[in-house]
Amino acid sequence: MTKSKTIKAIVPTNIALLKYWGKKDEKEQWPANDSLSITLNSMRTETKITPLEAGEEHTFSLNGIPHQRDEASFKKIFSHLDYLSEKFNFSKKLKIESINTFPTACGIASSASGFGALTLGALAAWSGVDSIEDLNKKGFSLEEIAHLARMGSGSAGRSVMGGFCHWSPGGSPKTQSIKSVFPKEHWDLRDTVVIIAKETKKISSTSGHREAWTSPLFAPRLAELPNRLSLMLEAIKDKDISKLGPLLEQEALEMHGVAMSCSTPVQYFSNKTSEFLSWIRTVRQKEKIQVYFTMDAGPNVHLICEENCVEKLRKILQNRVPSEALIEDRIGSGPHLQSF
Ligand code: DP6
Repeated sequence: MTKSKTIKAIVPTNIALLKYWGKKDEKEQWPANDSLSITLNSMRTETKITPLEAGEEHTFSLNGIPHQRDEASFKKIFSHLDYLSEKFNFSKKLKIESINTFPTACGIASSASGFGALTLGALAAWSGVDSIEDLNKKGFSLEEIAHLARMGSGSAGRSVMGGFCHWSPGGSPKTQSIKSVFPKEHWDLRDTVVIIAKETKKISSTSGHREAWTSPLFAPRLAELPNRLSLMLEAIKDKDISKLGPLLEQEALEMHGVAMSCSTPVQYFSNKTSEFLSWIRTVRQKEKIQVYFTMDAGPNVHLICEENCVEKLRKILQNRVPSEALIEDRIGSGPHLQSF
């Protein structure tokens, strides 16, 4: 018999250095290419889960607002719970209360931390354990949890690992791997997020992944990625920001280039984003500061630098970006569980 205790799963979001963009198989969540990310620290989802009595149904709330199974944006949450419970024969329904620690509707994707926390929390609640170690003992290794999380949202798999995470497609959907390749202690990278626009994106990443194949830039991108991956891994191993930075920018712009050149073009970029990118490149030269940008499928910009540049960057940004549009974060050690 498992005990019915309340569990909190705390899972940070991640920012991809090498982007997951395009899937070889959507049902299996099999990506077209390798991706590489850093798991962040304070931008995270905290999901409290309480097993319910027999006869009740799953309930879900985000930042205090209840959401139903038939709401378009929340369908995926309930189907992911169904997927997990059917796969492992867990019958208890769950009360799920999720919050994001970063500002709501700031345009920062929360599916990575959200599905990470949902997966980790639900498995822990169903298994009646309150630590990742005990979950491992029940047969759920961290990598297994990561693969289950990616079935909800691909990027969520990487959030289950701390530090630098590599998701490799392998040769088949079943031989994918998600591994932490360096711990956070390896290199204290910082991420300052600049909120350019707060609206949530009109075209989901899931549609963007589908469209990617129609871009003439996609095949050449896939051919080049193994090389970019090894250059990035080498730069990370050597902790060389001047090598990693230009690769980050090329990679982000290429992903957006693919999105913008599909048969149904997707423009996640705004004019304000372009202006900001040119500005930061000028600043880099003028101020001799090693700060580089990357972006997700949205208009906001992540500025990556080493710890010794953060203060200078903060001062530089002060005159350009209102403080409420900045979130300072850093590489983190990954998820954990708490019990009540
Ligand atoms: C641009 O993980 O949101 O952030 O698997 O369809 O849920 P689904 O897609 P999602 O895609 C993330 C795309 C990205 C790049 C990345 O995180 O690697």
